Amino acid sequence: MKIINARLRHKSELHTLTIENGVFTDIQEQGERLPAGDGQLDAQGKLLCAPFVEPHIHLDAALTAGEPNWNQSGTLFEGIERWSERKPMLTEQDVRQRVNQTVELLIQNGVQHIRTHVDITDPSLVGLRTLCAMRDELKEQVDIQVVAFPQEGMLSYPRGLALLEEALKIGADVIGGIPHFEYTREMGETSMKKVIELAIQYDRLVDVHCDEIDDPNSRFLEVLAAEALAHGIGPRVTASHTTAMGSYDNAYCSKLFRLLKRSGINFISCPTESLHLQGRFDSYPKRRGLTRVKELNEAGINVCLAQDSICDPWYSLGNGKLLRTLDFGLHICHMMGYRDFSHSLDLITDNGAKTLKMEERYGIAVGKPGNFILLDGTDDYSVLRNQGEVLMSVRHGRTLMQRTPSHVVMSTEAQNSLCEDAA
Ligand code: FE2
Repeated sequence: MKIINARLRHKSELHTLTIENGVFTDIQEQGERLPAGDGQLDAQGKLLCAPFVEPHIHLDAALTAGEPNWNQSGTLFEGIERWSERKPMLTEQDVRQRVNQTVELLIQNGVQHIRTHVDITDPSLVGLRTLCAMRDELKEQVDIQVVAFPQEGMLSYPRGLALLEEALKIGADVIGGIPHFEYTREMGETSMKKVIELAIQYDRLVDVHCDEIDDPNSRFLEVLAAEALAHGIGPRVTASHTTAMGSYDNAYCSKLFRLLKRSGINFISCPTESLHLQGRFDSYPKRRGLTRVKELNEAGINVCLAQDSICDPWYSLGNGKLLRTLDFGLHICHMMGYRDFSHSLDLITDNGAKTLKMEERYGIAVGKPGNFILLDGTDDYSVLRNQGEVLMSVRHGRTLMQRTPSHVVMSTEAQNSLCEDAA
């Protein structure tokens, strides 16, 4: 496959790229725009970038909103209750059908790399078994990492720890946790020590739903980071949500950031989900309920954005579009300067790849897998501002999807009227 007239991020020249046997073998600057030749893909000056990364989603729960009951209060905790009513209805066929639909939606929107949490507080482990099987079946289309996630508590749910270990033996890639939902602070702390212990024992990554609450006293992040630092595995560890950090006082945060930087752990924020679920116990002023994305980013700590849910008991909207998540995230986190805009795609591409520990096989460079997306725009800013559609997604040199952009035709009358007003 040869692609001409492609624009790359942070480069002014157009480029020609060659993919052979599924790998980028040549990338050259062009002096001028080239005419399309036979068998060549003409990018027409559009932005070619590495595929989007969805680092935090719950595929096992996707598309279940309202089954059997809707989350009426909008709180995280009612979401967990509604999900516990849906869980007994899970079957392999049910999970497969919804995961296929959701993965298709993600692929259509430029995602090729997914980390999904799967609830293992279910004695049948049907979701976990099904996702592990589908991870292997779908690998030509998408990379999937499966997190063994103890939704109802690693230590508070009956046999939670045993189920977690069983999930690791079945093949989960990542160990999850939910310390703020354990019955006591002590149990939450113990669970954080346990995830690090298991990560070393089973040689797995870690991704914890950590401090997903507005409580400024929820401080399990410091335990997770300190354990990761002590065992030298920080880059393999991720703290998701950490919304309590939005309520920490600045003096504590100043001290905390020193530990976070030293530990090298990664962060994932889910802006649409957290804005919706958090602040629910406030009257006014209402908290935004997000972690300190801007400050983490400026401190050089790796942080990326994710959707979390698509139409599930916690969040009944969602459409697979990470550009929508990015748009929300930049607004909510006050990341609206030009420098923020011009590097904004990092939050849903490179930073996500780093979190998933797949940097070595990610990016547009000779020797890397021939994976890319073509976006309707010329740089980060224009794609963000116009919510540029994903025009094409290519994996190992093979096309996964193509989209024809919508074409708008103005009436002559309207056009003439606008011209007159402009004159
Ligand atoms: Fe989540």
